[in-house]
This record gives sequence, structure tokens and C-alpha cells, in this order.
Amino acid sequence: MKGSGNGKLAVHGGPKAVSASGTGRWEAIPAAEAKRAIGGLLDQGVITISNGTGIVGEFEAAFRDLVGTRYALTTNNGTATLHSAYFAVGVGPGTEVLVPSYTWHASITPVLQCGATPVFCDIEPDTLVIDPDDIERKITGRTRAICVVHTWGNVADMDRIMPLAQAHGIAVVEDASHAHGALYKGRPVGSIGDVGCFSMQGAKAVSGGESGVITTDDPELFDRMILLGHFGRGPKGEGAHTFDELGDMSLGSKYRPHPFAIALAHCQLKRLPELNRHRTRNYAILNDALRDVEGIETVEPREGCVRGGYLEFKFKASRAVVDRVPVERIEEALQAEGAPVKKDRYSNLNFTYGLLHKAPLFTTFDRRTVGGCFYDPTAYAGPVEAPTLPVTEDVCGRLLSTYAFVDVDEAYLLEIAGAFRKVMGHLDELT
Ligand SMILES: Cc1ncc(COP(=O)(O)O)c(C=O)c1O
Repeated sequence: MKGSGNGKLAVHGGPKAVSASGTGRWEAIPAAEAKRAIGGLLDQGVITISNGTGIVGEFEAAFRDLVGTRYALTTNNGTATLHSAYFAVGVGPGTEVLVPSYTWHASITPVLQCGATPVFCDIEPDTLVIDPDDIERKITGRTRAICVVHTWGNVADMDRIMPLAQAHGIAVVEDASHAHGALYKGRPVGSIGDVGCFSMQGAKAVSGGESGVITTDDPELFDRMILLGHFGRGPKGEGAHTFDELGDMSLGSKYRPHPFAIALAHCQLKRLPELNRHRTRNYAILNDALRDVEGIETVEPREGCVRGGYLEFKFKASRAVVDRVPVERIEEALQAEGAPVKKDRYSNLNFTYGLLHKAPLFTTFDRRTVGGCFYDPTAYAGPVEAPTLPVTEDVCGRLLSTYAFVDVDEAYLLEIAGAFRKVMGHLDELT
């Protein structure tokens, strides 16, 4: 394999393993189409009110087709989808929500907004998603929901999680923000739990810049989500009409999206199958080339599942490797070889406090000082110690990350794999 030879490490002045250009040909935002779509809205004077008609209605119908649920409700961001989902399934004061620590903080912070308590669970080392065994250990009489994050497009073990939830009368909220288009044994993510939440922010596989979309089959949950944040969609909405007596009023959050964002997301949704096809191929090329590299462990998809969305590609340095060489040194050596590889960012969110279960917000910070709805006086007694999550703490300290490549050449990917092979073959020189 090119670039995998025994040459001197680039970090020590040797030749780079990666000589090919990484410039992909994929246009992340289909500019011409997006300009047409947004220009069309401007021409019609549509700059506000997304009450389920027009572009919003078209997008929601297309998203319903993708996920196969009865309802899809667009929002202004993914955080709003999670707050809506937790509110809808009855997360409130006195309740607990089981969450993974290895995720973006917005999977968890809306639990606080409901006055409830997040309870952190460990992850599976191979897939990086929440571990059903730890879920089972942590269910209590207070547990109201489980937040399942399909992290980096890898689908959680829904065959274990759904029966557990059903046996205890607990709701399942799927945070599919990294997993647009992923399938669990043929079923689209977002259609398996009670509610599916998809961020459509930034570089997500379907993005409106800032927006989100929620999926559910349950008319009452749909109604509750409308009640929370969709003033004006009210009893005219398509749900169970549970709150007809409230007329058009909502509870005071405003989670409607901007129609321009939804127009943008609609352009990207059309290209999702193609995007996922490219990413699946490229991750497979990298993983196939890395599987026999000593010191590197690949993050494999769950059997019978199809990854989607991805957001980023992940690899693990082995425990034996990071015990010898700090992961920062490996990162530095890979970058010197020309491989666009970084330490995983969720392992140290905001680069200050490490993993989320150790973040001040969930440990040392006294939420009573902010008051409002952010703590439950019957359940919150002040700062707590961080729980121990052995797998999360072990695995996250050795995760490496690269782009979720779309339209790049195989030769480029093989050179990146060659950089891993070269660096792993010269570990002694990095100690
Ligand atoms: C897993 C996960 N959940 C929730 C969110 C929150 O989405 P947003 O930034 O659109 O509010 C994100 C955003 O990156 C995410 O990655």
C-alpha cells in the first residue's frame, strides 16, 4: 500500500504518507438549487410562518416518507426537538432520563429544562452507543425516558432497548441527529422509539443551517409538541386535537423554523441517499484497510444495521498504544503525514471539562442558583459527584476522528490508511 512503507515519520522530517489531494467534489450546500428555492420563497414574500403548509409541509411530507412515521414536525433547531420530545413523553419534575455521556450536550440539557434529572449510562465499546446492560442497571421507579443517540450514524441496540422500555413503561427518545437515513434491521431510525429527533444544523447530513425535525407515530405526542412550541399550528394541526380548548395558543416556547432553513434542508434531503452511499463506501474502504493495522480498532456497524448520516468517521487507538504514546502525539504524527485526523471532540467537549458526566453543569454547579424550571426541589439537593462510566472513560480517551468523506478518490483514502499504518509501525519513535 502506498504510503505505508518503513520511511521516516513525517513528524521527524520524513516524506508524507498522504500525497493525494483530499479535495472532495461533493457540494455540501447545492448552491444553485438552494438559491432557486430560497429566491422562490422571497419572490412569493414567504419569510415567516411555517404552520405546516408550503415548503414546510412539503419537507415534512418528504421526511415522513424517509422515516415512515405518521408525523414529522420541523423546528428551529435540534435542541428544540429534544426538549419537545422530553416534554411530550412526560419528562418533568421528579423523573429521570437515562442518557449516554458520549454525545453532544444538547441530547441531555433539555432534560434539565423539563426540571428532570439526567442519569448517565455507559456505552458499548465497539459501537460507541448507549449500553443496554447499563440502561437495565439504572432504571428506577423514576425513569420516564431513555435517550438513545445513534452516535456517528451507528444505530443503538433497539432489540434490547425497546422491550426494556416497554416492560417498565418508559418512553424511548431517539436522538438521530448523526443518523439521517440509517436503518435498524430495515427500519429507519426515528421510527422505532416513541419520538425521533434530528438536528439539521451545520454539517449534518440534512441541514438547514439551523433547524430540526421530529418524527412520531403518536397523535397525542405530536399534539403535545405542537402545544409546546408551535403557536399558530394549534388545533388546526394534524394531531389528536387534545388541546382544542386552548385555541391557537402554545405554552410559550417558539420552536417554528425559518422557511428558508427548511428550503435548504429540502435541497439536501433529496441528495441524502447519494450522500449516504458515498459515505458508506468510503468508511468501508478506510475500515477494510485499517482492520489489520496493529494498534488501530475500527468502529464497526451493528450487525444488520445500515449506518447513515455519519457526521464524522471514528477510529480507536488500542489501549496498549495509548498507554505507550499519548493520543495527542499520535494525532500530531498523523497530521504531519498529511492525514486529516484529530482527537475526537466529544471526548473533551468545549476542550475544558472532558466527558459530559463530569461537566460542571451536571456535577459541581448548584442549579438552585439559577432557579426557574431548571431543577426539581423535591429531587435536587445540590452538587453531586460525577458517576463512573468505565467504558466511556476508557474508549473516549483514545478515539480519533476524520471527515465523513463524500466524493473523494479511493487512492486518497488508502493513503490516509497508509498514514495510520506508518505511524503505528513507528510508535517507538513517538515515545
Ligand atoms: C447528537 C446531537 N443531538 C442534538 C444536537 C443539537 O442540535 P442543534 O445544534 O441543531 O440544536 C446535536 C447538534 O450537533 C447533536 O449532535
